[in-house]
Amino acid sequence: MMEIREFAERIFFSDTLEGKLDNPAGEVNPQTRVPELSDLSPGEAIAWQQPARAPGIRVAPKKKRKKVPHPDALHQKEMRIRCLHAFANHELMALEMMAWALLAYPDAPKLFRKGLVRIILDEQLHLQMYMDQIAALGAKFGDLPLNDHFWRVAAELHNPVEWVCGMHLTFEQANLDHAPYFKAAFERVGDEGSAALMQRIFEDEIMHVRFGGRWLKHFTPEDMKTFDMYLASLSPHNQAFRAKGHDFNADARRDAGLDEDFIIRLHEYSNQM
Ligand SMILES: [Fe+2]
Ligand SMILES: [Fe+2]
Repeated sequence: MMEIREFAERIFFSDTLEGKLDNPAGEVNPQTRVPELSDLSPGEAIAWQQPARAPGIRVAPKKKRKKVPHPDALHQKEMRIRCLHAFANHELMALEMMAWALLAYPDAPKLFRKGLVRIILDEQLHLQMYMDQIAALGAKFGDLPLNDHFWRVAAELHNPVEWVCGMHLTFEQANLDHAPYFKAAFERVGDEGSAALMQRIFEDEIMHVRFGGRWLKHFTPEDMKTFDMYLASLSPHNQAFRAKGHDFNADARRDAGLDEDFIIRLHEYSNQM
């Protein structure tokens, strides 16, 4: 049986897109949806480092990068491609970061590590779905410059609680607002394929935020509110205002199991910190 460490190493150290998308363990248990992996030798913690990337998917210099287009620009196919390309890159970074987390936190609870494996498989699928949708619009993932924003933040996630706060409860939580927002924008221009993809991402992201919320609760001392623990665990470069988007979706956060105090205070939280 393959070890979780090997599973993570194969994904993290692979420099090709195929390697990033591959489930190195092969089969997935149909009941649990996770591969049968053992976790007997999680190994030594590895420090933050740049992920391996083949030339076609390298991070581009800052000057060359393009912003996510405004939703009102999506009637242009080129802008829809640019948008999907940026989101595909988020998936690539997410799955690499999750593989890195398995290597960086060998002492994390076994259930936490197992949960990350399952989420990696979701992120692989998301990347593949974005790549297919980009191809349906006549382009290819890697055609446009890639940024490394998530990656730079990863260097500041020193332990599992900082990890769940930075990754699942900031980047992924923001997607509970961004995904429906862009779904509506794709619908307005009649791009049903991209809209359906945003819906699928939204539904999976609720589960990923649920994972983060569950572990935040686990790591929060009994006499402390989860939102206070959350604020205390974020890094200066990744503050709580990044955990929400244009239209704050409180119901999605309730579906993800976040507590009412957390939801209300995040909603009220401004970037004036
Ligand atoms: Fe994803
Ligand atoms: Fe996710």
